[in-house]
Amino acid sequence: MLKLTVASLFVVCTSISSSIASPRSARIMASPLPFENEADVVLKAGYPGWKPTKFKRAPQPAQGRFLYYRQTPKVEKFRSAVHELYMRPYNYAKLDHHAVAVVTGEKVSGVVHFYQLNGPTSAVKIVGNLTGLTPGSHGFHIHQLGDITNGCKSMGGHFNPNQVSHGAPYDVSRHVGDLGNIKANSYGVANFEVTDRHISLNGINSILGRGVVVHAGTDDMGRGGNDGSLKTGNAGGRVGCGVIGISQPSV
Ligand code: CU
Ligand code: ZN
Repeated sequence: MLKLTVASLFVVCTSISSSIASPRSARIMASPLPFENEADVVLKAGYPGWKPTKFKRAPQPAQGRFLYYRQTPKVEKFRSAVHELYMRPYNYAKLDHHAVAVVTGEKVSGVVHFYQLNGPTSAVKIVGNLTGLTPGSHGFHIHQLGDITNGCKSMGGHFNPNQVSHGAPYDVSRHVGDLGNIKANSYGVANFEVTDRHISLNGINSILGRGVVVHAGTDDMGRGGNDGSLKTGNAGGRVGCGVIGISQPSV
């Protein structure tokens, strides 16, 4: 996979350098660079053991755009290395992304929709309707796996590609999957609509194919003062879950 990507990078570079001989390309070369340092425009994590992302830029622009090769190192047991080939300014081929999870449990059922409508790095809107809960707050997370072979238990821990501690949705440092709590009314119904900027339907924080889990108890969002709080928020058992898949656009 890596070899293939590097090979295609080379092919594109070659075609770019052969195209710069034309007078039109020579004029484009005179235009200013889109960014002096590509790393400055990419979100940088700072967790312990973090390794910097590496960038390579093709030496010449093509039609006013520069080609980049971005290499994000793997995080042991959580994420394989990611190799991306892209151009800046970025032209978005597809602006809106839609995903859905059908949540089931012994008593809980419902649907959660995920919308990312303004390009691959935009915020994700989460709209859910769940029934069969006990009244009150329930921990609500994206878990690592979309595996329900053993019910919600096989969905693994919280989706945590940066290997940091559990937190609240509004914390800068948190599991990517930490969406806090949802609130069920006296009938056990939770209707909610929240927006999150950590999860994505694209790229290294993509939640597609992973699991959404609703818990029996309240997520203390890392403020419980014990080990469990920093891992799971002490949200208790898993009363409902669903696998997140690509859905039909439906806003
Ligand atoms: Cu959870
Ligand atoms: Zn968490």
